[in-house]
Amino acid sequence: MDIESMLWPGWQLQWTVDPMDVEDRIGKTAEAVVAMVDSESLEGGGLLLHPALDETLRDLFRRGAFEASPGVTEVVPTLGLLPEKYAIYAFCPLGEPTPKGIRIAAGGIGKAAAGLKVSSMKWNVPSSAVRAIGAGAAAALCAEGLLLGAYRKRTYAGEKRELPTWDLRFVLERKEDGPDWDRGFLTGVHTADAVCYARELTNVPSNRLTPAKFAEEASLLASRYGSLECRIYDEKEAADEGMGGLLAVGQGSANPPRMIVLRYRGNPGSGRTTGLIGKGVTFDAGGISLKPGAGMEEFISDMGGAAAVFGVMRGLALRRIPANVVAVVPAVENMPSGSAYKPGDVIAMYGGKTVEVLNTDAEGRIVLGDGLTTAIREGADELIDVATLTGAVMHALGDVTTGAITNDEALLQAVIRASERAGEYVWPLPAHPEYRRMLRSSVADLKNHGGAWGGAIAGGLFIGSFAEERPWVHLDIGGTAWMWEDRDLEPKGGTGVMVRTLLEYLQGVSEAES
Ligand code: BES
Ligand code: MN
Ligand code: ZN
Repeated sequence: MDIESMLWPGWQLQWTVDPMDVEDRIGKTAEAVVAMVDSESLEGGGLLLHPALDETLRDLFRRGAFEASPGVTEVVPTLGLLPEKYAIYAFCPLGEPTPKGIRIAAGGIGKAAAGLKVSSMKWNVPSSAVRAIGAGAAAALCAEGLLLGAYRKRTYAGEKRELPTWDLRFVLERKEDGPDWDRGFLTGVHTADAVCYARELTNVPSNRLTPAKFAEEASLLASRYGSLECRIYDEKEAADEGMGGLLAVGQGSANPPRMIVLRYRGNPGSGRTTGLIGKGVTFDAGGISLKPGAGMEEFISDMGGAAAVFGVMRGLALRRIPANVVAVVPAVENMPSGSAYKPGDVIAMYGGKTVEVLNTDAEGRIVLGDGLTTAIREGADELIDVATLTGAVMHALGDVTTGAITNDEALLQAVIRASERAGEYVWPLPAHPEYRRMLRSSVADLKNHGGAWGGAIAGGLFIGSFAEERPWVHLDIGGTAWMWEDRDLEPKGGTGVMVRTLLEYLQGVSEAES
């Protein structure tokens, strides 16, 4: 398999871990040397990298030009004072190091390295971080932060994806920490790779990622990682199956829909299978209920949920997490045309229910309904869907927090705890039975649009009505899947949000089972 043919080739990395006392063993000089600093070391006089360079940093700090806040870095050219060309100082609260503080500081280092176009670095690891949270965990955070911070969306000028080959050398205080650091760093690299894959997929323009292309990518992913299996339903097979929701939304586009199924059997001994369903609307023009033109280009990201699910599958395979997962992605383009579905249509869903269409722009819930049914027929015992489902969730939670709805409090709590470990934000929306009235139709089992208020809840509950009593959590990433500006670890464009949370959740499931 030629991995170049996949949309994200993956980070190329090599690294060594050395204790302080063998620092000079390796002859090769890195392009940059990294030191993590905190307020104490900025105010004090101890050696960081080199007296003259350290004094430059402290001078900048005293005059307020180097801000002591997480993610901030200062690059000082070494001008021959050190073998490396650049010194990268990264602020990190080291007195009480937190996972978030380390991840964000590493993200700043990644950004600085990407800006300098250096990829070989010697990184002096502060022992307080290793002591506070353990070498393995600290290393995983450094890898995640570094690579997520360094990620840039690709340009099609030149048509070739340019990625650095990283060459890293960690200097640890204690030799005994080396093996844990090594293992933890590899885990973090795999996690970051999964997130960057999701970002890359999200950023692909919709003419280059049609539903058929998306399905091809799934089969490339499966052949790249032997532990994944792939099954695609094209539009004919979907029709034979009766996937009426998928077909209705897809019928307006010249690019026919696909139902994509990816399977990962990491724990054959367990009977439990988690279903992950990702909204794969490769472009959402709104259909006949056409969206306004301004900013419509953002809706290439309406497959952000599907991208997250693809990222999770890649992460499961890379990290070899012992869990069983069936991933389902309804991939479809929502377009207005002479063949498009229309307001007033009544469609027959895969699961047997009928839906009255009131707004063709509420298409995600329709394809996800068929997605949930597919996951159930593929043997899922519990269901988690990820979707850029509503703009309404952004009114409630902004672009910071993912909204969640559930029919099973325990499953939701497990997902929220996972999000906390992963450093992502998930917040529950209420799902009281009274909200279901919004979806009552006089001509069908359900209508797809609940009215002006509580849109994120109505959309979520619509999807949940296809869960067939299985524990289910819906994650609405309508506000969090796409950034218009860079922010901390997230560059402009697709964020890959929820990949880390879901990997953490599945890792937790596997630990509970063993
Ligand atoms: N994909 C959109 C939701 C969305 C909007 C995500 C903006 C991110 C940013 C979804 O398909 C949609 O159009 N939802 C409508 C639902 C409405 C018609 C009930 C919305 O949120 O306006
Ligand atoms: Mn829409
Ligand atoms: Zn949509």
